[in-house]
Amino acid sequence: MHTEPTLALGDPRLDRDHAELQRLAQQLAQARNRQEVLAALDALARHCAAHFAAEDEDLRLMQGNDDAVCHIDEHAAVLASLAEVKDWVIENDDVAGMANLVQSLCAELERWLPEHVHYMDSAVAAYRSKNRFGGSPVAFAPRPPA
Ligand SMILES: [Fe+2]
Ligand SMILES: [Fe+2]
Repeated sequence: MHTEPTLALGDPRLDRDHAELQRLAQQLAQARNRQEVLAALDALARHCAAHFAAEDEDLRLMQGNDDAVCHIDEHAAVLASLAEVKDWVIENDDVAGMANLVQSLCAELERWLPEHVHYMDSAVAAYRSKNRFGGSPVAFAPRPPA
């Protein structure tokens, strides 16, 4: 059986941001006309820009990590796709074409998000947790024997 990676990392801020990103992508998928598509695209792009900027800040602090560079590039690629789709919608008066483009963007985001969270954002969550606990791993004292 194929199990999908989930969005939950145990970092409250990241988890909240990813749930919102997913909600905004679903809202875009349900947009029924040009006006709704543009509004949903703007809301999604704004949220992504803020969320990615916060992650990028941590990624730059995680120096010497090649994965961090790929991670930052992946964020930029998503923002570029959102901007391209918005430009296309503004420039073209083709309702069916717009619906197809939006559906493929949303399908791609739905596929991309859990994988990105699972394979890339998990490193940011680990880094944040390490910093929160003063750079040392959380240790639980073993229970004395009863
Ligand atoms: Fe993220
Ligand atoms: Fe990320």
